[in-house]
Amino acid sequence: MPRTLFVTYALPYANGPLHLGHMTGFVQTDMWVRFQRLRGNTVHFVGADDAHGSGIMLKAEAQGITPEALIEQVSVDHQADCKDFLIDFDIYHSTHSPENAELSGQIYQALDAKGLIARRDVEQAFDAEKGMFLPDRFVKGTCPSCKTPDQYGDSCEACGTTYRPTDLIDPVSVVSGSAPVQKNSEHLFFALPQLADYLQGYIGSEAIQASVKPKLAEWFADGLRDWDISRDAPYFGFEIPGAPGKYFYVWVDAPVGYMASLKALAAQDDAVDFDAIWRPDSDAEVHHFIGKDIIYFHALFWPAMLHAAGFRAPTGVHAHGMLNINGAKMSKSRGTFIMARTWLDHLPAEPLRYYFASRLGGSIEDMELNLADFAQVINADLVGKYVNIASRSAGFITKRFDGALGERVDTELLDTVSGAANEIAEAYEQRNTAKAVRLTMAAADAVNAYIAEQQPWVIAKQDGSDDDLQRVCTTALTAFRDLTVYLKPILPATAAKAEAFLNGGPLSWADIGKPLAGRTIAKFKPLMSRIEPDTVHAMLDAGKADTTPKQAATKETPVDDNTIQIDDFSKIDLRVARIADAQHVEGADKLLQLTLDVGDLGSKNVFAGIKSAYAPEDLVGKHVVMVANLAPRKMRFGLSEGMVLAAGPGGSDLFVVSPDDGAKPGMKVK
Ligand code: MSP
Ligand code: ZN
Repeated sequence: MPRTLFVTYALPYANGPLHLGHMTGFVQTDMWVRFQRLRGNTVHFVGADDAHGSGIMLKAEAQGITPEALIEQVSVDHQADCKDFLIDFDIYHSTHSPENAELSGQIYQALDAKGLIARRDVEQAFDAEKGMFLPDRFVKGTCPSCKTPDQYGDSCEACGTTYRPTDLIDPVSVVSGSAPVQKNSEHLFFALPQLADYLQGYIGSEAIQASVKPKLAEWFADGLRDWDISRDAPYFGFEIPGAPGKYFYVWVDAPVGYMASLKALAAQDDAVDFDAIWRPDSDAEVHHFIGKDIIYFHALFWPAMLHAAGFRAPTGVHAHGMLNINGAKMSKSRGTFIMARTWLDHLPAEPLRYYFASRLGGSIEDMELNLADFAQVINADLVGKYVNIASRSAGFITKRFDGALGERVDTELLDTVSGAANEIAEAYEQRNTAKAVRLTMAAADAVNAYIAEQQPWVIAKQDGSDDDLQRVCTTALTAFRDLTVYLKPILPATAAKAEAFLNGGPLSWADIGKPLAGRTIAKFKPLMSRIEPDTVHAMLDAGKADTTPKQAATKETPVDDNTIQIDDFSKIDLRVARIADAQHVEGADKLLQLTLDVGDLGSKNVFAGIKSAYAPEDLVGKHVVMVANLAPRKMRFGLSEGMVLAAGPGGSDLFVVSPDDGAKPGMKVK
């Protein structure tokens, strides 16, 4: 019986770009989703930005734009990052949406009707100059315990003491610099202790990972407390129904954002039945993937809210550990705080997906990305083992049999490879992709050993050996097909290329073990290239440059309006150039070195990131448009003296801009 699954990953804050820590979780979730789809299950996979809170409000203000404009920009970037990391969402929504306002209000009112909302006064730090209450993180001062200056209002980074902002010596508001005062205000509370019995059952159930249970039991034993769910204006969020000037604390409407995104998806896709998924007796499954830092919200607050409001609880809350890079927490000063986009500017997404897969065991253990051995793992496993099987067998089939695969195969090897299917499926199901990868590579080893033993290149030279040669290569390629299915959740783009090569797709789990007799394969093209350690270094260098503090945008610069004046435009010296020569660049994945003839301006050397879309020989003689007065940039490979204009998102979708026939090198483009 196919299952129906609603799957989410934690909604990233809309206050900045995604980094590789976020990508571990997105990738883990996406691999699970793709695996489920491969098995024939129906999956609704949604993402959204978490758009509310004081942080986002103040950040927008500092940039001189509205919070709406900020979250809009960030959403575009987050979606582009996810798309390029091959995250296969059905929709990417926002918690700042009408669906979410409605559902959050509805859930709150259901809790209120059950007597689960309490009201009482709270004393809190208040910035009188700015007229706003200050979250703990917006108050700084000297640690009362060790006297280190410049510490946040919740805990000291030097000695680890936790305290209240009022305990700080000489506290100041980060917002205005003034000294905060203490002020009372009424807050609304969700009476969590009233759901203690329900929650005890829930955290003991299968919904919670074994490795998470001890921590939850500890929290539980410490005693559940009422949860403060309101914030006073000014706040960027939803106003609470019946409580003017009070807003939902961001963590109230954030998880409701999961439901709201599904609702938005249901509005555009008739196959999605929102009510059938969320009613208490639903036989659909709801799975939330998260990082371990937000377990409290997902394993206690959220199921309690859902249950009390008359909805079903999540089937599973699946937490992963934190990502460490080169042996330590990601760090700006070490240059290991790597943005998703920095990675993509230098390296493809799939190798990182594979690396993450090989490290994720389905528990909350932290993960290590070791950039020194990253290239080695990819080159050994994917290029050396997996792709190698196809590249060693395909040529013979194409040259000697016109691409036709044979009837005869060595079933012993094929049984070994397809026999791993159930164990690999179980590993995926348990989110133990590390195990799925190990089993897949063990199968790939068996196939490579078979090829080494059979030596098709020797058979090929013997007279009258056609049958044997076809048998060996057909066996290897059939095994390669099975391995492709195993890797497809991790490497969807490579799998698509393999499907084109095998002339059969899209592959699903049910294809494992099926004979390929009678199939004609396409000419083999390299499925993946080796990772050069230099490219990894270049990515790290770029990451360091990204994180050096830039001048803060001043308020005078209108950031939300991208209109320029004519003289802004005329500062750019655009010229027609003829590509006189184009060459590969040793050690660069993305770059081609172009020698441009710019007429009067002479010859210019430009490194252009268009290798994924053009072969050098196709460029020579072409006329293009270049920016001729760009400050020259020193790159590892030499000096780049300008930029060639191209359209498109990148990868193979890149189109160099050319002038109409007749334009001559050196002509100004105005
Ligand atoms: N907005 C909340 C989640 C609301 S869910 C209803 C939030 N946002 S976040 O941007 O801080 O984090 C989003 C996800 O990224 C979380 O699952 C978090 O654990 C994960 N990660 C953030 N930094 C990480 C690492 N360094 N390593 C691994 N995951 C990390 O929390
Ligand atoms: Zn201290």
